[in-house]
Amino acid sequence: MLSESQKRFDRDHIWHPYTSLENPLKVYPVKATEGVHIVLDDDKKLIDGMASWWCAIHGYNHPLIKSRLQEQLEQMPHVMFGGLTHKPAIELCQRLVELSPDGLENVFLCDSGSISVEVALKMALQLAMANGNPGRNKIMTVRKGYHGDTVGAMSVCDPDGGMHQLFKGLLPEQIFLREPQTPFGCDLESSDKEELEKGFAQHQHEVAAVIIEPIVQGAGGMRMYSAEYLVELRRLCNLHGIVLIFDEIATGFGRTGELFASQHAQVAPDIMCVGKALTGGTMTLAATLCTAQVSSAIGKSEAGVLMHGPTFMGNPLACSAALASLEILTSTNWKESVNRIEARLVSELESARSHKRVADVRVLGAIGVIECKKAINVESIQSFFVQEGVWIRPFRNLIYVMPAYSIQDSQVAQLCKAMIDSLDIDNHFLN
Ligand SMILES: Cc1ncc(COP(=O)(O)O)c(C=O)c1O
Repeated sequence: MLSESQKRFDRDHIWHPYTSLENPLKVYPVKATEGVHIVLDDDKKLIDGMASWWCAIHGYNHPLIKSRLQEQLEQMPHVMFGGLTHKPAIELCQRLVELSPDGLENVFLCDSGSISVEVALKMALQLAMANGNPGRNKIMTVRKGYHGDTVGAMSVCDPDGGMHQLFKGLLPEQIFLREPQTPFGCDLESSDKEELEKGFAQHQHEVAAVIIEPIVQGAGGMRMYSAEYLVELRRLCNLHGIVLIFDEIATGFGRTGELFASQHAQVAPDIMCVGKALTGGTMTLAATLCTAQVSSAIGKSEAGVLMHGPTFMGNPLACSAALASLEILTSTNWKESVNRIEARLVSELESARSHKRVADVRVLGAIGVIECKKAINVESIQSFFVQEGVWIRPFRNLIYVMPAYSIQDSQVAQLCKAMIDSLDIDNHFLN
């Protein structure tokens, strides 16, 4: 149990994500996690709908991940990766290459999703220089995207919803096309095709790479779009010699019903970022994978090396957690679990569609979203959810869940009931 002075210190001195120390929002002290539950300090058990922001896909405290971490802790918690190598990193990278879409053969291990995006952007820019195209130094992307909070990553986040205005001057100016309009499961609308063709025709001479979250745009709006959009993007990148980067940090490792979301389109990128669920939510770790063409051109370029090397690169503890997580994923029928969750989310959330406060309901894989017409008062709705025994953390006008694949049907139903009941209370919404 946290003491009053610890709570005060937290409130007065510790930033939580996107918060102010002048006007801190309520935080809930948590003392333990168990399976799909978060246990608060007062022993209240909440069904977790967030999987700690897409990470804890097997639920918390999985025994295999725990035991592998304990073994690795005894052996070697950390060692520098410059000039040294080790089995956990090698085995993890081998496994990632085996599981990833065709052609992705080489791996850069890094600490977080944002850093893996920075590395992907550097790879693309170094490749353009290597190919004698230094003028191709911009990144093209679509609106409503989210790729992280570091400078390069912010530059490719949605220019309105992101932090472009605030950090103007610091952020490189990138090229933004309209966000995909064709919904998931539909044939590509001609207006999407035209927008892409126009964008490539206008900007191809200055573009090193296109980056996109395949199939699901996450933190930029929880939007799910047509797989054919990715097919068209791949065609245009090939045509114009532009590198295609898929940011699978949120979508990777089964969340959308395919191991990687790009597999809905059967399209492989030149560079792919993964993170979040990579370690099953136990340790921070991410990776950037690329094709041999990308790495060999960088290797033969004037710079000669890929210009990145974090201190905790290839951390053996994180690598062993990731290996265990991939072992769990590939030795269980995760697809069946995700399909089961999807079916449940579809049926349980259907009744929200006709609610006066709801603009749209969307489900794909183990992701369920209620888009509201108005912005949400997070603090007030959060306390309602806690009272109802669930952990759901909305943002902007979106109430969404992406639970662990091990969640039971009755627990999914409880999450959905709380989501729908929350719509009836006026002070959960801002005017
Ligand atoms: C698609 C996508 N890319 C990148 C990131 C950034 O990852 P991290 O928060 O680990 O830096 C996120 C995080 O939400 C994400 O959803």
